[in-house]
Amino acid sequence: MTDFPDSLPALLAPLAAHSHHALRDTATRRYTAQHAVLHQRLHALYGHRPDFALWYGKLLGAIGSLLAQRPAALQAQDARREADPGWFLDQRMLGYCSYVDRLGGTLRGVAHRIPYLEELGVRYLHLLPFLRPRAGENDGGFAVASFDEVDPKLGENGDLDMLAAKLRNAGISLCSDFILNHVADDHAWAKGAKAGDQALRDYFLVYPDRTMPDRYEATVGQVFPQVAPGNFTHVEAMGGWVWTTFYPYQWDLNYANPAVFADMAQTLLRLANRGIEVFRLDSTAFLWKREGTNCMNQPEAHMLLQALRAIVAIAAPGVLLKAEAIVPTRELPAYLGSEGGNGGAAECHIAYHSSLMAAAWGAMAEQDAALLKAVIARTPALPPAASWLSYVRCHDDIGWNVLKAEAAEAPPGGDPAARLARIARFYTGEGNSYAAGASFQSSDPNAAHGSNGATASLLGLQTARDDVERRAALRRDLLLHGLALAFGALPVLYMGDELAQQNDDSYRERPQHAMDSRWLQRPYLDEVALQHRHDASTAAGQMFMGLRALLSARRRLPALAAGAPRTVLPSPPSVLALARGDDFICLCNFSAQRQPQGLDGVWSDCLTGQAFSGEVVLEPYALLWLERAA
Ligand code: GLC
Repeated sequence: MTDFPDSLPALLAPLAAHSHHALRDTATRRYTAQHAVLHQRLHALYGHRPDFALWYGKLLGAIGSLLAQRPAALQAQDARREADPGWFLDQRMLGYCSYVDRLGGTLRGVAHRIPYLEELGVRYLHLLPFLRPRAGENDGGFAVASFDEVDPKLGENGDLDMLAAKLRNAGISLCSDFILNHVADDHAWAKGAKAGDQALRDYFLVYPDRTMPDRYEATVGQVFPQVAPGNFTHVEAMGGWVWTTFYPYQWDLNYANPAVFADMAQTLLRLANRGIEVFRLDSTAFLWKREGTNCMNQPEAHMLLQALRAIVAIAAPGVLLKAEAIVPTRELPAYLGSEGGNGGAAECHIAYHSSLMAAAWGAMAEQDAALLKAVIARTPALPPAASWLSYVRCHDDIGWNVLKAEAAEAPPGGDPAARLARIARFYTGEGNSYAAGASFQSSDPNAAHGSNGATASLLGLQTARDDVERRAALRRDLLLHGLALAFGALPVLYMGDELAQQNDDSYRERPQHAMDSRWLQRPYLDEVALQHRHDASTAAGQMFMGLRALLSARRRLPALAAGAPRTVLPSPPSVLALARGDDFICLCNFSAQRQPQGLDGVWSDCLTGQAFSGEVVLEPYALLWLERAA
């Protein structure tokens, strides 16, 4: 067995040149700190293989080479961030997320948007998939044909390098999806497997007949039950059934094969060396399959992520890993890992808090904050140097099923599926709802499938008939944003929401998108709205300026940093009173009625300076940020 310090020379070999003298010491220090976790996790996963020691040594050699190739500017950034591992937790951090084409046409076009991002105070830009996707349908780029090439429609590799550097100079970290659960069926690995390469066939999960697929299907759920039913696809050229959790052309990778892990780890480091600073680890919950389970959140998936984290800590410690695990609240904390005792290890630096996001929408539909309070009660304090990611909307549907436990428990209780289905129906506009949205992948009228739609449309801006209704819609919009900004997380705005952009129905006319209503919330940046962002007579201007006031208040309030303490204070059922430390309270009134909220001491409105004591009466859908008056 290759063990520390015997394995260290493998890591250092590529750093033999005289010019790498200092880097050798750095690598030694980092490996000393990471070895126990890295070796233990990989040994637990792959140690039963006779060639494990050889494989492990080779992996270290590859990591050493990628460290040697890491550009000096990124090495310097690594050093700064190693010295300040909580650099991304402060209240000045703000994220923004968009598709490249929708924000700027191409990667070069995105560079022209940097001044706009700076105007908002953005420090982190998540560009949805921009690597070469599958030809034809590709799930918005989530079916990757090559991890080493930029999508030719969006630019060239050099454009990516240029954009990453420009963003870095502007103090904005570039975040990219890292789609590690699957590759497109025209990725070189899949093509090789189809051509009969046995080693590449082992990169996938392939079954000659339905025996195993049927056994797995007994317990595995479906992500896209309508457009991509089942989890296996019969592929003629493979002579069998290939595991495809998502669309049939997205082939799940076989992480039981160590070659897959080694290749993907190196792929990530190559992208990191291009200047990508944050990786959104797509569909992390699905990485490991186990018969008799739902094949999500398996212990081995966490081991893989912890090993990946250790590798990043050795070769690119300035880089952040972000878990996209859309799972029940109780499963979330594990994605951040735990440092210290009991074999704990750090995992991802950031994890989407999709329960928080969904519960806020649930509270809005129910005009009651119970679901939200239940989610917050189940959200543990953050481990060191880690953060939740808070958001109002993203490119995907709002998935309600993550809230099943809270829906069963939070008043008024009852059948959780029926409760979530009611909320989902509310957002399709059923009954007298103000929402204009679509339900996603729902064949059963009683099942709680997701909801699609742009934030402003789901909140009533699209159906508003007069100024009163328009103002109510915008108040709801600012309320949800105000909560995401105050919760204690890295908040990420979704492109267009800052301008109250509405649904984009044009997808229905594009055959490759028509069956996937997630395209409803994937509009192009509205140039007219952008022009009017400082014009208070437009909805875009009201939203933009309202949001900007919150953003600038947030920047000066250290109580809103990710890790600052959080307490839920007593309040009426439709109000959430979230204290951050002793001197800040975020009040959210989810009801259409005015609500009284008791206050202890003297407080002032962070935006207007208005003073309150004893009690404040919250207007319908009001958001109030209060700081303790000196
Ligand atoms: C993630 C993405 C989603 C995509 C899926 C498969 O959930 O957010 O858009 O369809 O992964 O890659």
